[in-house]
Amino acid sequence: MILQKENKILRAIAKPVANFRASGLKELISEMAEAMFKEPDGIGIAAPQIGESLRVFLVSAEVKRIDSGEPHDASKKKSKDFLVFINPQIKKFSAKKSKDVEGCLSVRGFYGEVTRPEKLNVEYFDETGKKHSRGASGLFARVVQHEIDHLNGVLFIDKAKNVKKLKDA
Ligand code: CO
Repeated sequence: MILQKENKILRAIAKPVANFRASGLKELISEMAEAMFKEPDGIGIAAPQIGESLRVFLVSAEVKRIDSGEPHDASKKKSKDFLVFINPQIKKFSAKKSKDVEGCLSVRGFYGEVTRPEKLNVEYFDETGKKHSRGASGLFARVVQHEIDHLNGVLFIDKAKNVKKLKDA
């Protein structure tokens, strides 16, 4: 179950993962993936959204497909590929910003425009405890920033302009 915006866990500063061998970590990641792929428009998810206040988030491989120009297609997510980011730290932002519409599984039915740096570099650990560093741009950079906001108790509606509610939500 994905927590909704009124829940206090979504407003807490999540704790870093201290032990990558803890038995619960793999389980947490698979629960997060299951919750994300259950949602037709789920392209990222942060651990606090399923009630675990830890610095872990996932990004669906769908994001990479969208960035490469393929249209969003929920059926393609049956591949269920995703990237895992643990204890992420953004090391560099581009000065250039971009504005786009965002939504959130924890703020169901609402959409709004958020301005964010267009590119970034992020350091993080994978589920085995190995450290990585990578650049991100486009939707990928946006999702990384949106998910890291979740780890800091921030929701996109805190930053968005022109927030609108879907008629059928
Ligand atoms: Co969200």
